[in-house]
Amino acid sequence: MCGIIGYCGPKAASEMLLSGLKRLEYRGYDSSGISVGQQNSGEPHSSEATLSIYKKEGKIAALRSIVPQELPGFWGIGHTRWATHGGVTDVNAHPHLDCTGEIAICHNGIIENYMALKERLEKEGHQFVSDTDSEVVAHLVESFYTGNLESAVKAAVSLIQGTYGLLVMHAQHPNEIIGARNGSPMVLGVGEGEMFIASDVSAMIAHTKQVVYCEDGEVVRLTPQGFHVTDLKDRPIDKSIEGISWELEEMEKDGYDHYMLKEIYEQVDSIPRAMSGRLDDTQAAAVLGGLNMSERELLAVKRIVILAAGTSYYAGRVAAYLLESLARIPCTTELASELRYRNPLVEEGTLYLAISQSGETIDTLMALRELQRKGGRVLGICNVVGSTIPRESDGGVYIHSGPEIAVASTKAFTSQLAALYLFTLKMARMRHMAWPQGKRFISGLRALPGNLAQILQNAPALEALAQKYHSAESFLFLGRGINFPVALEGALKLKEIAYIHAEGYSAAEIKHGPIALINPSTPSFFIVPDDHLRDKVISNMKEIKARKGPVIALCTQGDQAVAAVADDVITVPPCDEEFTPFHMVLPLQLFAYYCALQLGRDVDQPRNLAKSVTVE
Ligand code: G6P
Repeated sequence: MCGIIGYCGPKAASEMLLSGLKRLEYRGYDSSGISVGQQNSGEPHSSEATLSIYKKEGKIAALRSIVPQELPGFWGIGHTRWATHGGVTDVNAHPHLDCTGEIAICHNGIIENYMALKERLEKEGHQFVSDTDSEVVAHLVESFYTGNLESAVKAAVSLIQGTYGLLVMHAQHPNEIIGARNGSPMVLGVGEGEMFIASDVSAMIAHTKQVVYCEDGEVVRLTPQGFHVTDLKDRPIDKSIEGISWELEEMEKDGYDHYMLKEIYEQVDSIPRAMSGRLDDTQAAAVLGGLNMSERELLAVKRIVILAAGTSYYAGRVAAYLLESLARIPCTTELASELRYRNPLVEEGTLYLAISQSGETIDTLMALRELQRKGGRVLGICNVVGSTIPRESDGGVYIHSGPEIAVASTKAFTSQLAALYLFTLKMARMRHMAWPQGKRFISGLRALPGNLAQILQNAPALEALAQKYHSAESFLFLGRGINFPVALEGALKLKEIAYIHAEGYSAAEIKHGPIALINPSTPSFFIVPDDHLRDKVISNMKEIKARKGPVIALCTQGDQAVAAVADDVITVPPCDEEFTPFHMVLPLQLFAYYCALQLGRDVDQPRNLAKSVTVE
């Protein structure tokens, strides 16, 4: 979703902004723009300056093509826009200007009361040029400006209802950027004589690894010499500088055609990373220090509620199944967006798990806050270290999958599962799981990388399958039990990146509706491991075959009964039933990838989608 970046320092701001925006591309966007302050004398410290604005619909490359190569200017702000209010046009792209053209703003979030503010400002004579909610901020700042930019921004944001990660610059304030945060991520980067401010660390990692995470209600004044953080009442806030552990190389494609393919292959390494140092062979248990809960508190947990969105929600659905069956704790998974607004009942003994790769999904964050406000204890299962959800949760587990750049989540899903499996092991070993079962569970976890490496060797077969089926208009993905959520995830992957309509269903439910869709051109992708529901799923496959529907089966190596029914078969190595989701999801990720390739889709940045959904 929208990305913001600001730079002030000795280097050419336009280049710093454009390269930073390029790193923010993965968030998902449809237009972009920059504003660069140019000292009229050409000197970095001259007090006379003008702003140069460049905005363009489409990719960063389109923006780059209209920015002069050697644009002078040492401070500026930039934005990638994911349209909410107003169509995708050059005019609606950020930065937005006030009436004088001296104030420029970039905004991530939604101004909910923008209509009322706009009406008021128009009555006062302000001229609006775009259809966006964000433009009101530029005019509001203008209306409060009397020489102190920071004060004007504070006065403006105190009238705003909604969310913002906001950057403001003024031609008469060379080398100064004001940032303000409420509900949208913002982080400062501290360099040598230069400062950065952005919606996430990827925009600045090439230049600095020293960062400061901003909180809601904070306003930052940035100059090349440093930063000063205050609240809206001008009270100074002490911030600590933290280091980032991600390496720049982790954000490169590393020879792969797409980030998504790289991330699918990386799972062989990212899953063990999620488990590293967390398996206790002696106790046949898991060590998860970050939970911030004593054994006694964990034992007092009577119910678990998982909240998440998208792919993380499906990881939660797998975990709910596992927690109930192995730890014998009632567990449900809820869409964070729904949970938040239905006045959830928070009871003693309930533990909440917020799962989020980015740690910034607004629905998950807001649900977490609502639960905490009611006294609920929320643990975060997140990937991005220092993001908002882990910072605000009561404890949790980092999944350490490394940066996930492709919009469609792959390695984060299996790393979330790995972390949730460890959590299940910990909870189960405190309850019904005996030591030998614990040992067996650990062996199952340890076997994952080897098995997944074998599964990746199926890539050519999955590519051939995609060649055969990519022109289908609609797919069913069918699974049962712990693999029902995997079927949902398989359908989501195909929708997200190949734009093929796909529905995930419990194989048992097809008789209650979806079977009406079956015809010779609607394939059904069955997930049918060698588990306690296998025979029932084989019967469901036969029901589809009897109606002339093509059947693809994902099954255990050597399963002749499945092979006898299916038109096409992809196999995975045998494993205990509870580990099948890891094995089954990989081929589904590859299948979606190859279908998208066949159809010429933009695999890493699919249309309309955002990696980090920071607006409701
Ligand atoms: C977006 C992304 C999905 C992701 C979902 C939840 O929709 O495109 O890939 O699964 O958000 O994101 P989170 O960061 O909270 O896991």
